[in-house]
Amino acid sequence: MDETTLPPAVDDGSLLIRYLVDLHGSDFQRRLWSALSGDGLATFTGILDRSAFARLARGLAALYPHPDADPDGLTLLHARESGETLGKRGFSDAELLPHTERSCTTVPPHLLMLVCLTPGLHGGETLLIDGRSVAEDLARTEPESWRVLSGPRTAYFGGAAGHAGSIFEPLSSGRWMIRLRLDELVRFAPQTLPHVAILRKVIGRHTKTLLLEPGQGFILDNTRWLHGRRSFQGPRTMLRALGELREGLSPERGFPVLLTDLERTTGKGWT
Ligand SMILES: [Fe+2]
Repeated sequence: MDETTLPPAVDDGSLLIRYLVDLHGSDFQRRLWSALSGDGLATFTGILDRSAFARLARGLAALYPHPDADPDGLTLLHARESGETLGKRGFSDAELLPHTERSCTTVPPHLLMLVCLTPGLHGGETLLIDGRSVAEDLARTEPESWRVLSGPRTAYFGGAAGHAGSIFEPLSSGRWMIRLRLDELVRFAPQTLPHVAILRKVIGRHTKTLLLEPGQGFILDNTRWLHGRRSFQGPRTMLRALGELREGLSPERGFPVLLTDLERTTGKGWT
């Protein structure tokens, strides 16, 4: 992936099928929990309207009050803004480079949930990238980049009231979380810039596409998976919810990273 373009769109439906969780039956929340604990991602079908999505989202999580959300806690994503509006590109038909949600906050929401109400006429594929695969690939193939990008305070995310943090951050549980955006609302420390370019190439190797049809969607761990979108034409409309898993349904945030002993000596500087 170069600086301006996304990898080719290839969606053979395999991603939807691979991570699909059946929402029928009384124990579907347990199945979602299991999927999120293991892979950090669950896909679903059959959620055909706003009320069904609200029930699913609220049953699983305490909804996060996003500034752009409607009073019911859900955010309608459709092309109502220019793609040039700062921080509002999600409400346009422009492409969205891989990112995590609310990277500007100290503790980003654990879950991102999205359902398709209306697909576009052309384009609009969802991009999904497993941060664990990216981290392990980076540590294995570009150890110096992993060392730099897993250090503290390598980027500033957001506007005036943003967050100074890192792309890969260790958690107290021995796991890692990923935090990223690649638009105009991030500033990387100068010494990290060559390594961010390498990271973008690694992300390109792990990017999967998903062309959602009405009622199809996904739930992902926002501290593990990156998401993005291709540009589109037409009435593409999605509903989004962010939230924290309810008590009793609480997989750990982030992901383990399988490192060699040498790689394990990186990430120093955190206290
Ligand atoms: Fe997003």
